[in-house]
Amino acid sequence: MSKLKFIIGYFKHRFKSGNEHSIHSPYLFEFYNDVICDESPFYLYKDIESIRAKLLLTDMEIVIDDHGAGSKVNSSNKRKIKDIAKNTLKAPKYGQLLFRLVNHFNPKTILELGTSLGISTLYLAAPSKKTKIITVEGCPNTTKVAQINFNKIGFKNIELVNDTFDIFLPKYLAKTTSLDFVFFDGNHQKEATINYFNWCVEKANNETIFVFDDIHWSRGMTEAWEVIKKHPKVTSTIDLFFVGIVFFNKDLSKENFVLKF
Ligand SMILES: C[S@@+](CC[C@H](N)C(=O)[O-])C[C@H]1O[C@@H](n2cnc3c(N)ncnc32)[C@H](O)[C@@H]1O
Repeated sequence: MSKLKFIIGYFKHRFKSGNEHSIHSPYLFEFYNDVICDESPFYLYKDIESIRAKLLLTDMEIVIDDHGAGSKVNSSNKRKIKDIAKNTLKAPKYGQLLFRLVNHFNPKTILELGTSLGISTLYLAAPSKKTKIITVEGCPNTTKVAQINFNKIGFKNIELVNDTFDIFLPKYLAKTTSLDFVFFDGNHQKEATINYFNWCVEKANNETIFVFDDIHWSRGMTEAWEVIKKHPKVTSTIDLFFVGIVFFNKDLSKENFVLKF
């Protein structure tokens, strides 16, 4: 998808997206107001953002082993850490949304596909020491930098796995009865995204939450999002443009919301 098409898509989303008044479900109305739109600062945001600020100043280059859809801005396999931090990581607004989602749903375990330098992982891990985060990154050098960041902040509830999703996921799912919360943020290709969803959805229960990153990053990702929304186990979905949230709760109607964020 060209940059122009992406920008047009973004403005179309802004135009058609609703606010709390377009939500009929009292539960989702409250969720949108109190969780998605909550702007209260949590003190841990500062610690995580100071790690990002250091990454943004790091000139060191690492060799990237790209297992995913690659980067729209850089096709070389040597990248400066500051460029990865600038182009690949979720912006503070979205990291903080992840923090609030975890704070709200209080999952026992979180699976993250796509660690990169670990900023989103830190937001997922920060709300509770009791929540265990398993985060998967295919690139060995990127994994090393993420581990340094986890050690720096001292969170003990993160298990960092250096593996490809295709190898890791089947093994992990075979020994897992149920998934509480999954953040899909790597390999933004249609087929791969649908595959990972189909594998994980087998382990989704009434309380499970899936969060997909970059659901409109490309035509393929938008098509994958359409497939996900139609799955019979999925009830409500929320499309915030850069992120999509999927519910399996049977008390919710099968409805797809497009909301401003
Ligand atoms: C968008 S970045 C993750 C950003 C991170 N979640 C954040 O916001 O801080 C995606 C990461 O997924 C990794 N990745 C992509 N495809 C993969 C695959 N098939 N297996 C393992 N890792 C993969 C890439 O190496 C990259 O570091």
